Amino acid sequence: IHSWTGLYTATTGIKDLPEFVGVNLFDDEVTGYFDSKNNQFEIRQDWVKELGEKYVEDQIKSFRDFTWKFKENLKLIMTEFNQTGDQGGHTLQQMYGCQWEDEDGATEGYSQFGYDGADFIRLDLKNTDWVAARPQAEIIKQKWNGDQSKYWKKYLEHDCVKWIKKYARSGKISLERKVPQVSLLQTDSSSPVVCHVTGFYPDKVNISWQKDGQDLHEDVDVGETLSNHDGTFQKRAELKVTPDVWKKNQFTCVMEHKSGDPIHMILTEEKIRTNRAGTGASSSSSTYFTLNPT
Ligand SMILES: *[C@@H]1O[C@H](CO)[C@@H](O)[C@H](O)[C@H]1NC(C)=O
Ligand SMILES: *[C@@H]1O[C@H](CO)[C@@H](O)[C@H](O)[C@H]1NC(C)=O
Repeated sequence: IHSWTGLYTATTGIKDLPEFVGVNLFDDEVTGYFDSKNNQFEIRQDWVKELGEKYVEDQIKSFRDFTWKFKENLKLIMTEFNQTGDQGGHTLQQMYGCQWEDEDGATEGYSQFGYDGADFIRLDLKNTDWVAARPQAEIIKQKWNGDQSKYWKKYLEHDCVKWIKKYARSGKISLERKVPQVSLLQTDSSSPVVCHVTGFYPDKVNISWQKDGQDLHEDVDVGETLSNHDGTFQKRAELKVTPDVWKKNQFTCVMEHKSGDPIHMILTEEKIRTNRAGTGASSSSSTYFTLNPT
C-alpha cells in the first residue's frame, strides 16, 4: 500500500509561526514543504527532484492558492465563532490524501478539517457531501457542497492516485525492498557495542540484543530510525557491556526486516569494526565509521 498525504495548517495570532504551513508526505515520508513566510516550495527527498522544474512551479502555485484560501476560511470560521476581534491564537488544519494498493488497485481517499484542535468538517466521499462536525461548520458546508465536493471527490479518487503512481515510479529506487547491512561497531573497548543496520527499505526493522539466546532489555539502547540520503534507512542498538562479560557469554544482535530472513550476528572481537586504529585510543563517545562492510 502506498499513500499520499497533505497536512496543511493556517494559524492566526501565534507568534513565530507562519500563517500557512503545508507539508506533503509520500508513504509517511515528508517529500515537500511550503510556508507562507518563504513562499517557496522545498523538496525534501532527493528522488522528488526527478519530477522536474514544472512540478516545483505547480506546487508553488498551488500552495500560494491554498495559503489564500486557508486565510479566507479561517476568517470565516472565526466569524462563525464570534472570534473576529480575538487576540488569541486560532488554527485551521486540513488533512487529506489517498492510498493505493498496488496489488489489487484498491484506492481510498479522505479530506478532513479541524478547527482549534477539534474536528470541524469532513468529506463523505461516498455521498459527495461535506459533513459538519460542529454547528459552526454549517455555513462552510453549504458553501462547499456542490462544486467543491465534486472537485475534491475527483481529485482524491483520480488525480491523487495518479500522483501516487507517478511518485512510486520516480521513487522506484527507494521503493524496492532493500536488504540491510548489519555491522558491529565500537569506538574503543570501554564504549558500547553498536549493532548498526543500514541501507534498508521499507523503514520498519526490529533490532535486538540477545545474551545466551535470551532477549536483553537492560543495558540496551535502541535508537530512532534515521533516513539515509538515498531513500533507505538506518537504525542502531547499543549494548553496554564490559569485555570480560561479553567474552564469558554469547551476545548476538538479531535483526529482522521484510527483505529477508532474520540476521543473527554473534559478537566476537573479529567482527567488531572500529576506528581506533591510527587515531589512538579515543575518549570520545561518538562513533565515526564507514558504513559499507567489506
Ligand atoms: C455569536 O453571536 C451571535 C449574536 O450575538 C449569537 O447568536 C451566537 O450564538 C454566537 N455564537 C457563538 C458560537 O457564540
Ligand atoms: C517486529 O516485531 C514485531 C513484534 O514481534 C512484529 O509484529 C513485526 O512483524 C516485526 N517486524 C519485522 C520487520 O520483522
